Amino acid sequence: MSEKVVEYRVEGAIAVVELNRPDKLNAFNAEVQALLQAALIKANADTGVRAVIITGRGRAFSAGADIADFILTPATAVQMAEHGVNFLSSPERVRKPVIAAVNGYAFGGGFELCLACDLIIASEKAVFSVPEPRIGLAPGFAVTRLPELIGVARARDVLLTARRIGAAEGREFGFVSRVVPHDELMQEALKTAGEIAQLAPLAVEFLKGAINSRLPLADRPVTDRATAWLALTKDVVEGVTAFQEKRAPKFTGE
Ligand code: COA
Repeated sequence: MSEKVVEYRVEGAIAVVELNRPDKLNAFNAEVQALLQAALIKANADTGVRAVIITGRGRAFSAGADIADFILTPATAVQMAEHGVNFLSSPERVRKPVIAAVNGYAFGGGFELCLACDLIIASEKAVFSVPEPRIGLAPGFAVTRLPELIGVARARDVLLTARRIGAAEGREFGFVSRVVPHDELMQEALKTAGEIAQLAPLAVEFLKGAINSRLPLADRPVTDRATAWLALTKDVVEGVTAFQEKRAPKFTGE
């Protein structure tokens, strides 16, 4: 029996969504994106579900957009950018709290999806990064979220360096809510989700909505277009080719 690339199960009042494409570090191909969005829509509609956990199988939460799927033409680039932001922001459209239980690499879109979640609980093995500039792209969703979540100075340190940030530093920066030993990750996420599930759901829904109403929407079209434009540069072709050939890219700024 073939396993699904996104598993969905309900444990009491908690929905658990597990990314299950470990051989590709749970990279978001079209199937993963469709199933993850469907799982969140299902959890949102299920009145018995009071909290949602997203986690990954294997050594990654997710390594982000599937680089092997990139087809970069003027038409697909705009579509990809718009669809990307819509997909990455989907936890924000769930009325119940969504917890990212981060088990390993959360890179690119994997990190950005976490930023759309209400809490990030990280294993000591979790590593966060927005490495898009390493292949010529920019993280169009993180740039609208990180400055609001952790402040402009820290967001610069994360976004402009594309460096790796471990769980402890993520906690210090403030985007990670708590760090736990690797083997206790799901236990802690389920415990926290269980605590949320005890609260009055309408009060929690109001709080989530009120907190998220602070998040910027107005600049999204600008970042969407900029990401689409970047996707058509020669540097992206070089960055993607270099990743696939497992070598360092040579960027020219064209
Ligand atoms: N898209 C498609 N495939 C990916 C991927 C991605 N974003 N990230 C990893 N993979 C694949 C690799 O190609 C490799 O497949 P293979 O075994 O068939 O060659 C497999 O997942 C394991 O990845 P690998 O790079 O060998 O693991 P690693 O431990 O050496 O490095 C990372 C882990 C996360 C540092 C590295 O995979 C990476 O940098 N990934 C790209 C992240 C990224 O740029 N995301 C943003 C995209 S816009």
